[in-house]
Formats: sequence, structure tokens, C-alpha cells
Amino acid sequence: MNVIITKDKVEAGKKAFELVEKAIHNDASVLGLATGSTPETLYKEMRASNTDYSNLISINLDEYKGLPADHPQSYHTFMQENLFNAKPFKKSFIPDGLGDEEDEVKRYNKTIEEYPIDLQILGIGTNAHIGFNEPGTSFLQETHVEKLTEATINANKRYFKSEEDVPKYAFSMGIKSILSAKKILLMAFGENKAEAVYNMLNGPITEQVPASILQTHNDVTVIIDEAAASKL
Ligand code: F6R
Repeated sequence: MNVIITKDKVEAGKKAFELVEKAIHNDASVLGLATGSTPETLYKEMRASNTDYSNLISINLDEYKGLPADHPQSYHTFMQENLFNAKPFKKSFIPDGLGDEEDEVKRYNKTIEEYPIDLQILGIGTNAHIGFNEPGTSFLQETHVEKLTEATINANKRYFKSEEDVPKYAFSMGIKSILSAKKILLMAFGENKAEAVYNMLNGPITEQVPASILQTHNDVTVIIDEAAASKL
């Protein structure tokens, strides 16, 4: 994996933006997108750019199960506010949090098959989850409903009024779907990601550390700030 260490997340967002631009110039037409705090500086660069994304397809990693698209904490709302209002794509896919589980899983797998992902943007959880694939999830999983771990619920409660309001399940692309992307760009910032980053890069490849599977992909760039790199 190609590891780039930056001073902070602002510099990382600029570096990530350069890589996204390069991929688009090299004919990437399907971007896999992530939510959460990590991609915010990248999306800021994308919003401020002159690049037209209206010929591109976007496919998001995940959505909370049970949240309607217009819920303030849904990933639909996050994407509208952080990217799509300023930069509409030709088509954007995000799992429907209110969708019937079986139908939604089928629909999403079909979407990923129909639009193979050229570049997948990822964050990483403090427990090394990618998408919402929590430790122990099979590397062979495609889209599915994942039960969120206490660690994830705890990390995400900052966006909700209280811990009880954090959904306990999410639709997520599986590890197999993530690995099918031609290129992967993972970002991580802050001291609390340092152990996950270390285990992803140097630890054994195990379903207990979902991001460790990225060691087997042939085109992964990892952009981390100094704090997230502090255990390397
Ligand atoms: C978000 C996602 C998650 C986050 C991870 C880190 O779509 O799939 O894997 O990337 O939980 O979250 P932040 O960036 O908020 O630290």
C-alpha cells in the first residue's frame, strides 16, 4: 500500500483531491463515496473546484437502517450537504435506509455490478471497520445489513442527541464489494485511529481487523495525518 503522511487533515484533503482528479482524468467514471468526518476536507476541495462531476456516477458505502433519506443524520443528508448540492453527479446511489432488507441488498449489489467502482474513498473506524463491516464480518460479504458494534455506536453518537438515537443497524457494502474497486483511497486522521492504521498496514490479515484485507489489493493509497501515523 502506498502511504502518504500529511501534516493535518486539510493537507490530506488537498492530496486526496489531487488523486481523485487524476483518476477522473484517467477516465474513472464511478466513484465510491464515504461519509463521516474523514472525507470532509476532500469534499470541501471538490466543492471548491471547477471540476464538473455531472457525467460521473457515485455509489455510497452505507446508510443507517431505519433512517429516512431526509433525516438530518442520514447519510443521504450528509452527502447532499457536503457534496451533491454543490456538485451534482449524473446518478448517485445510497442504500435506502427504509428499504426492505432483502430487496435493498439485491438492488445495491446489482448497482455495484452494473457500475463497477473505479475509485473507492474510505475512512476507517477505531476498530478498523471499513464501510460498516465490523470486526468478524466475512471478507466474502457483499451488501448486507450489519449490526453496529458498541465502539461504532459510541463513536457516532456525537452526531445524535443521545446514544439511544443512534441506529443499531446499517446497510453496508461488503468487503468483497469494496475490494472489487479498481483503486482505493483510504484516509484516517487523529490519534484515535493510530492503532487501527497500524493494524491495517502491519498486522496479520484477519476478519477481526477488516481493513487488513486491503493489504491484498493491488492499488491502495492511504493518506493519514501525523497523529494517525504515530504508531507506525
Ligand atoms: C462511512 C463509513 C465508515 C467511516 C468510519 C470513520 O461511510 O463507512 O466506515 O468511514 O466510521 O468515521 P469518521 O470519518 O467519522 O471517523
